[in-house]
Amino acid sequence: MANKITFIGAGNMASAIIGGLIDSGVEPSTITATAPNDSELAAIKQRLGINTDTDNNAAVAEADVVVLAVKPQIMRSVCEALRDSVQRQQPLVISIAAGLDADTIDQWLGGQNAMVRCMPNTPSLVGYGASGLYANGKVSDAQRDVATQLMEAVGIVEWVEEEALLDAVTAVSGSAPAYFFLMFEAMEEAAVKLGLPAATARRLAIQTALGAATMAQQSDKDPATLKQNVMSPGGTTERAIQHMEEAQLRTTIADAMQACADRAQAMAKELSGS
Ligand SMILES: NC(=O)c1ccc[n+]([C@@H]2O[C@H](COP(=O)([O-])OP(=O)(O)OC[C@H]3O[C@@H](n4cnc5c(N)ncnc54)[C@H](OP(=O)(O)O)[C@@H]3O)[C@@H](O)[C@H]2O)c1
Repeated sequence: MANKITFIGAGNMASAIIGGLIDSGVEPSTITATAPNDSELAAIKQRLGINTDTDNNAAVAEADVVVLAVKPQIMRSVCEALRDSVQRQQPLVISIAAGLDADTIDQWLGGQNAMVRCMPNTPSLVGYGASGLYANGKVSDAQRDVATQLMEAVGIVEWVEEEALLDAVTAVSGSAPAYFFLMFEAMEEAAVKLGLPAATARRLAIQTALGAATMAQQSDKDPATLKQNVMSPGGTTERAIQHMEEAQLRTTIADAMQACADRAQAMAKELSGS
């Protein structure tokens, strides 16, 4: 990536992406990260060898790409203070903030910006992220490639062509790590009732999820077929799956994901002040 990239915010998400970029061969000297606090920046500078700055405007002055990686609650004040620099520099702006739509951020930055909005998830912090990306009409194909490369540094990327679909992305990947953690909790509790030590149950459940995910990722068979392959007629797995179907697990998941997407939509309205 021949671009100069500035991260506004140097917290968990920014550090993970920067780490991934450097691991994938991006030159640290092309990356700048900002935060209000010098000591936090000193740590990231020492660890990753990038440039740092406590002045957001100075850091944007020569950037080709600006990644907005601050908390959604302070995004408005951060963007409004950057408006003149961004209007002068016209970089590609990528926001990873949950719940804030591209138009709102674009307006806070003075309008007419090439904007990509990204919905990442927490496994990005360990390199197994799944991000949904949306670009507004100002983003060129080359800039799309830059955004793809950026988020692929911490996982996989899927583009959506309508911004509203990022609410569905929130339901299927943004919030979804927690669904699996709930499953681990429930499986551990149930296994303990069946007599296993909690630590043994946890280890087995997590490894099984990792194994199932890896099989699903590597196989050309769909999940329904893979599931069927584990079930022999009259066997143990069939009994468990039958029970889950009768208990309406699918409906529970569908309702939960709908509630998640609805909440994402409502939060976007609250955060944009509309
Ligand atoms: N973590 C995730 O898995 C995840 C998932 C999806 C989306 N996101 C989104 O990613 C964004 C960042 O999340 P995070 O978890 O990385 O948060 P974080 O660890 O709290 O990082 C926020 C960073 O912004 C800095 N900051 C605060 N005020 C600033 C200012 N005025 N100018 C420049 N930098 C400033 C903070 O510095 P100080 O520490 O000194 O305040 C910190 O370095 C959020 O918008 C969040 O919605 C995160």
